[in-house]
Amino acid sequence: MQPPASRALRIVHLSDTHLTGDGTLHQGTVDTTAALDAILDQLEQIPGVGLVVVSGDCSEDGSPASYTALRDRLVPWAAARKAGLVLVPGNHDQRVGFREVLGTGHLLGDGGGPIVHDLVHRDASVPIGAVSSVAGRRIVTLDTSVPAAGWGELSDEALDRLRSTLREPSELGSVLVLHHPPLVAPSRLHAALQLQNPDALVAALDGTDVVAVLAGHYHHAFTGQVATPSGARIPVLVAPGVANDTDITGSYEEERALVASGALIVDVDADGALWSTPVRTVRPSDGQEAVHHSAAQVQEIAGRFGR
Ligand SMILES: [Fe+2]
Repeated sequence: MQPPASRALRIVHLSDTHLTGDGTLHQGTVDTTAALDAILDQLEQIPGVGLVVVSGDCSEDGSPASYTALRDRLVPWAAARKAGLVLVPGNHDQRVGFREVLGTGHLLGDGGGPIVHDLVHRDASVPIGAVSSVAGRRIVTLDTSVPAAGWGELSDEALDRLRSTLREPSELGSVLVLHHPPLVAPSRLHAALQLQNPDALVAALDGTDVVAVLAGHYHHAFTGQVATPSGARIPVLVAPGVANDTDITGSYEEERALVASGALIVDVDADGALWSTPVRTVRPSDGQEAVHHSAAQVQEIAGRFGR
C-alpha cells in the first residue's frame, strides 16, 4: 500500500476483537485471539501507521486475562511502529476488567510513547474515556456502553463533558472513537442494540473540529455521514469486526455472521480530508458460517439485551 501523505495521520482501526480470557471460542466457532493475530499479520507491511484504535467489544467476557492478551499483542505492535494506541469499551466489555488492565484505554501517545494512567479505583457506573494527542490531532474516546445492556446511550453528563472537551479547536482536528455508531443498523438485532440518542451526539459535534467518528459494533465495514444542526457533514467510519463479519445480505429479521476478520486503514490529512479502505484476512475458514440466529432467537436476545 502507498504510504500516507506527508502530513496525514494513518490509523489502523480495529474493532470487536471479542477476546476471551480462557480461550473459549466466540459463539462456539471462532478463536478470536487467533483472529486478532491473523489480522495483525495481514497488516504487517502497511506503512506509516501513526495510530492504532480499537473501537469497542475488546473483550467477550470482560476478564482481566482477555484485556491482558489484547494489550500484550497491541502494545508491541503499535510501539514497533511508533504509533499511538487507544481503546474504548463496547457493550461486551466490563469496565472493572477494562480499567484494571487498560486504564483509560489510552495506552500509547505521540510517537508510541507510553501514557501514564490514572489508576484510581472508579465505580463500574463511571464511563471510561480520555483525550490524548497524536500527530497534532486530538483523539477522544467516548464510552457509549450501558452496564449489562447491549444498546448504547450517552447521558446528558457525558454529552456535556464531550462538548467541553471539544470547545476549543485542536491543532489539526479531532478524531472521536466510540463503539455504537450514530448510523442505521443493518439487522433487527443490531437495531435493538443501537445507540439510543444519536441525534444528541451529532448535535454535540456541531461547530467542533471533529473530522471523523470511528466506530464498531455492527461487525461490518460501513461508511456514513451525519449532518449537524448547522449543516456540517461529519464522516462516520465503522470498522469490520475482528471476531466475525455480519452477513448483511441475509434476512433483516435473522442474524447471521461469517468467519472473517478485517480492519480499516484510515488516513486523515492535515486539512481534514479522509481516505479509507478495509483490509481482510484470507484464511481457509473465511466465509464459513460463524453463527446464525433465527428470527425467534433474535427476538429472545433483543428482549434480554436490547431496547
Ligand atoms: Fe461486537
